[in-house]
Amino acid sequence: MLKKCLYPVAGYGTRFLPATKSMAKEMLPIVDKPLIQYAVKEAMDAGLFEQAFVTGRTKRSIEDHFDISYELENEIRGSSKEDKLAEIRHIRENCVFTYTRQKQMLGLGHAILTGEPMIGNEPFGVILADDLCITDGDPVMKQMADLYAEYQCSIVAIEEVPKEDTAKYGVIAGEAIRDDLYRISDMVEKPAPEDAPSNLAIIGRYILTPDIFDYIRNTPPGAGGEIQITDALLQQAKQGRVLAYRFQGRRFDCGSLHGFVEATNYCFEKFHKPDE
Ligand code: G1P
Repeated sequence: MLKKCLYPVAGYGTRFLPATKSMAKEMLPIVDKPLIQYAVKEAMDAGLFEQAFVTGRTKRSIEDHFDISYELENEIRGSSKEDKLAEIRHIRENCVFTYTRQKQMLGLGHAILTGEPMIGNEPFGVILADDLCITDGDPVMKQMADLYAEYQCSIVAIEEVPKEDTAKYGVIAGEAIRDDLYRISDMVEKPAPEDAPSNLAIIGRYILTPDIFDYIRNTPPGAGGEIQITDALLQQAKQGRVLAYRFQGRRFDCGSLHGFVEATNYCFEKFHKPDE
């Protein structure tokens, strides 16, 4: 069964400069909680308790966030602020964390391959923390883990996007096997609208079977000169072994300023009191 979740967090976050000059973009808060904490909570709620980070320079705050801070714990114990630490304590006490550094940014496929020693020979989840997913029911990773239990193959999350936006995403084509589920026959990384096989875009949630590592090893650089997970997944899909799942819930592109502000307003309304 699925136990591990991988977080590629080595990217620079140049769209958020100067905020991200010396700080991890995954530590940017949506209201009062860093993006990476939403991501790890989502994995944990899907039953994935082993968290593996592919990290890089300037990302140490992520490790500190999931570690204990004795001074803070001491300071806050018994005070009215204690409940603010409840979730992060719960995560810390129930999960194990491993970290490795991606020394060069050679693409998302390369970042995932860098995580191989932490994953080993078992299926795993991947969450891109920039894609914040808020749901009323099960979190997206849980929805996908349930599907994995049924189909035992790689799964990518997808959503419909306006055709003019296809160049921002990996885009799939496939045969519908259910209203919300496709068997992928083609996928292209960041196609121009006229070259896109559909308007079904991959968003930052994946479940991958471990043979993906060999496919990545054999994947030459693609779009943007980077080693793309989309290209490796296409090779796996040619064996009929990749599904695309149109998830339930709302996704915010927190890698863009617009999406980040939208997510902030949405989460404040949904999770906070107006006078907080
Ligand atoms: C990555 C993937 C792309 C996917 C996207 C989702 O792109 O390469 O296939 O659609 O994440 O957010 P990036 O946003 O890192 O350029």
